[in-house]
Amino acid sequence: MKIQKLSKHFVFLLFFSCLLQACKSEETVTPIPKPIGTINPDTIVKKDSTGLRNVSPFPFGAAINISTLKSSTIYRSTVIREFNSLTPENVMKMKNISLGRGQYFWDDADYLIAFAQANKIRVHGHTLVWYNSTPAWITNFTGTTDDWKAILHEYILAVVGRYKGKIQSWDVLNEALNDDGTFRDCVWLQHIGIGYIDLCYQYAHEADPNVLLFYNDYGTEYSTAKRTALNNLVADLKSRNVPIDGIGLQMHININRPNSTIQTAITTAAQTGLKIHISEFDVDVNYQKLATLTYNTTLAAAQKDKYKITTKAFFDLPASQRYGFTFWGVYDSQSWLSTATVPDWPLPFDNDFNKKDAYYGILEGLK
Ligand code: G3I
Repeated sequence: MKIQKLSKHFVFLLFFSCLLQACKSEETVTPIPKPIGTINPDTIVKKDSTGLRNVSPFPFGAAINISTLKSSTIYRSTVIREFNSLTPENVMKMKNISLGRGQYFWDDADYLIAFAQANKIRVHGHTLVWYNSTPAWITNFTGTTDDWKAILHEYILAVVGRYKGKIQSWDVLNEALNDDGTFRDCVWLQHIGIGYIDLCYQYAHEADPNVLLFYNDYGTEYSTAKRTALNNLVADLKSRNVPIDGIGLQMHININRPNSTIQTAITTAAQTGLKIHISEFDVDVNYQKLATLTYNTTLAAAQKDKYKITTKAFFDLPASQRYGFTFWGVYDSQSWLSTATVPDWPLPFDNDFNKKDAYYGILEGLK
């Protein structure tokens, strides 16, 4: 009888301690975070006020103009609300950073990185080597092939090294191909030879083994020769284990660019298996450069269609290859295509930061 009573107690104690244990382990389960703020269904990048929740199928970004970033509150707030990736339009180009051998100007690039970090925005570096951004001290440099390799090495190590862990990807090489598919002439080609291309990627990888390395160019939507040359270049680099992760298709198009050519440019580049970045998207409305042209509903509709089909063609890629979609600017008058005498309207925001029809074309392309 006594033994029976004791075992009843024991069973009860055992049950109670198991219950206690279960409650304790439930306490240690990480609670599901409650969303803070609301997600705006009408924005291309859907993030809440913490900047953390992002349910876009891929990152959207913009080329950032440093002086406007420093001076305009509405520009800053638009960038924070609308984008989760940014590309420096100019401040990370060699001409802007490299003042002389071993002498660098970092202030603007540092400012941009700090802004991106504070707002949880990815940074795509642009660009390490571009024939069109070679400082005079390099153009005038004299030395042996090894001396030229040394200055290239020093520069890439300094820049990629400084932003290691802060920049997720780089346009290592920009526009190294001509439209006919041949290699473009530049000081690096002249003094190092075609091997300069391998070196750019190897040096960047040496400086930051985790950063993604891109080749960036324009015109594969209108030049078959360039499209083929680009895929051949990538295949060649890959066959020799030169580190390359992605292709940037600049995609500076105009309202009359046939849809099929945009789709072909994207699907052909994707055949390499690399990540694809629509890296400098804009749709030129006034490509005939008419000083008197005004923006009207017909032009806006044609532009919206190009925004929509390009977004859709990109969205159709396998998710693992969709690196991001970047506009080359934020609002129209700031675009490299707009001048004081010839207006243009290539971007998703007008000059008052209102969303244009083009913007809604992107949303439609994502459906
Ligand atoms: O900031 C100076 C200013 O101080 C000076 O008074 C003024 C006088 O011209 O120049 C200003 O710098 C200009 C800079 O844009 C900022 O507006 C440069 O001269 C001008 O050359 C520079 O143009 C940039 C161009 O690349 C050359 O670097 C454009 O903004 C930029 O949109 C354009 O971007 C390129 C991509 O990097 C590569 N793909 C093509 C794309 C369009 O050309």
